[in-house]
Formats: sequence, C-alpha cells, structure tokens
Amino acid sequence: MSGSTIIPWVVGNWKMNPMQANTQQLVQQFKQLLQQEAISAQDCHIGVAPTTLTLSTVQTQLADAVTPIVTVAQDVSRIAGTGAYTGEVSAELLKDSGIEFVLIGHSERREIFGDSPAILIEKMKNALVAGLTVIYCVGETLAQREAGQAEQVVLQQICDVAAIVNGDQWQNIIIAYEPIWAIGTGKTASPADAQAMHAHIREGLLQITPAGKDLAILYGGSVKPENAEELAACPDINGALVGGASLDAASFYKIAQAFAKTK
Ligand code: 13P
Repeated sequence: MSGSTIIPWVVGNWKMNPMQANTQQLVQQFKQLLQQEAISAQDCHIGVAPTTLTLSTVQTQLADAVTPIVTVAQDVSRIAGTGAYTGEVSAELLKDSGIEFVLIGHSERREIFGDSPAILIEKMKNALVAGLTVIYCVGETLAQREAGQAEQVVLQQICDVAAIVNGDQWQNIIIAYEPIWAIGTGKTASPADAQAMHAHIREGLLQITPAGKDLAILYGGSVKPENAEELAACPDINGALVGGASLDAASFYKIAQAFAKTK
C-alpha cells in the first residue's frame, strides 16, 4: 500500500563522529544551506543524531535554523530514572534535557554492544514511558538475506518489541529498515528490494496495529544524494536514516531535498 500521505523523515546518524570543531561546522553549513533554500516541515521532517556528548550543544545551535530540525539521541539506557548507573543516560534524563527522539536497536548496538531483544524491550519501554519518540531500527545480515530469511528476521525484530507498545504509543514510533550488508558498504538495497521489504513491514505492522498505516518507515544503508531520489520515489519508503553522507552538509541537504520533493 502507499504511504504517500506520511510526511517523510530524513535523519542523520552521526554515530561516533565528528570532533567538536567539525560538529559546529557541519551544523553551521547545514543551516546556511537551509537559509539559501528552506525545506518546508510540511514536506520533510529533518533530524540529526549527534553523540551524547554534543546533543545539547547541537540542539542549541539548531534552535534558530529556518527549518525545524530535531535532535535525536543515538541510544538510551535500559535503566529508567536516575541512580547509581555509571556511564548510563536514561530516557528521563534525555527528556529532561529537551531531547524528544531516540534511536533504538541500531544494528551496531545489537552486534557490537550486545543489545538483545530483552534489552531492547527495556529501552523501548523506558523511552515510550518517558514520552520520547523512538526510531526503532531493524535489518537482516547478508547471510540471512541469502538464506531467504530477510522478511522473517525483520518482522521478528518488530514483534520482539511490539508486545510492550500500547495503542497510543504507536504514534511515537518510526521504523528504520537498515539491511546490515548495506550499512557503510556503499551497497544500497535496490529501490525495488527496499520497497518490497518496506511493503512487507507495512503489512506486518497493520496486523499488529491499525496505527501501522501512518507509521513512517525509513530506509538506511548507504543512502547518498545519487540514490536518494530513486529511494524517495518508492511509495512505502517514508524517509532515510543516513550515516556517512550525513557528515557532509551538502550531501545531507540534497538527500532531504530529494525526499521533500518526491512526497
Ligand atoms: P551509512 O549511510 O553510512 O551506510 O549508515 C547507515 C546507518 O547505519 C544509519 O543509521
């Protein structure tokens, strides 16, 4: 089915980049591009996910951008509230700092830092209870795709957390489909393959909740200005979660423009 009434989201995941000076420069350059030609929030929502260290600084720097840009945390603790949990940042602390969005379940968290379904359920629960909007990431490995298990794996990842999401909370969820083999490799899923998976995710969501028809499903994995238009033209691709290309202001701007124009 078409998700064309959904306003697309283009979110830059800066991962463990960049250094302070480059962060400021990146934000500055992006704001200047928007000043030259604004992207309407009616056409595309924009977000950036800096490191925890620079979340507040970036948010302050973005406050006067001509197009509203949300600041997104890259992760959240599985522990709620406050307390003796060295190194952790809870959903409540994020919310208290004015952060309204968080990525949960990125494949790098799952694969490198051991974020299991049980941990992701706790993170999801805490984030939703604190009133954050969650960008929940799913995606299969190359081996799973080659074994014909991609759809099953991705739907299972959604089902893992769906049980703890109540009716109203679905409106605070965005799904990001990021095939692991396409992340940072320069290999993008073909628009046809990505669209097929997105349509499958949409069907799966609709079986779980009627809110599934309104959820944005973003694609991530080597999104660049060169492939953004083709991806944006797919009816069930409602935006992009951009890694490498989001560290270049001009590239990120072009990707946002591509999604803004197509919808
Ligand atoms: P790349 O765009 O660098 O492939 O990264 C995608 C990603 O992991 C975004 O979360």
